Amino acid sequence: MKIEELKISVRVYDDARELPDDSRMLIEMAKEATENAWAPYSKFKVGVALLLGNGKIITGNNQENVAFPSGLCAERVALFYAGSQYPGIPVHKIALAAYADDKFVERNVYPCGDCRQVLLEHENRVNHPVEIIMYGTKEIKVLSSVRDLLPLPFMNDLTS
Ligand code: THU
Repeated sequence: MKIEELKISVRVYDDARELPDDSRMLIEMAKEATENAWAPYSKFKVGVALLLGNGKIITGNNQENVAFPSGLCAERVALFYAGSQYPGIPVHKIALAAYADDKFVERNVYPCGDCRQVLLEHENRVNHPVEIIMYGTKEIKVLSSVRDLLPLPFMNDLTS
């Protein structure tokens, strides 16, 4: 038996001014996108903004449904839209913001497991890392690649 240690890197910023302009703009757009979330059941509004390799920016938010499993997370709403409109164009960055109890969260939320899997497949498909910027009012966390979110991914010969 041997133990394989895995290493992931998380950049933690306590001041948004340390981030490049485009990342700061994406955070603002993700925050704004929470306003259009449809989240009457969880009351947890999530917004995202994607920066594509062609310079386009796509925003999205969570869309819930009274038949609970029918809703979709903000990340997948935006990623699937990007795939449908700009197939093959890489997503370079995704910013994520969450709003609950009349304020943005102090500590960031991380994408859920399903969204990690969808992000990973996008990254593999376009062969370009996706930077993930997760906003909180107390700190902002940044990952350079989906590999840092999902270090032991499911893949098979069809997707890898
Ligand atoms: N949600 C997202 O939109 N993204 C995530 O990464 C985690 C959770 C949504 C799903 C649901 O509408 C609400 O947040 C509460 O879980």
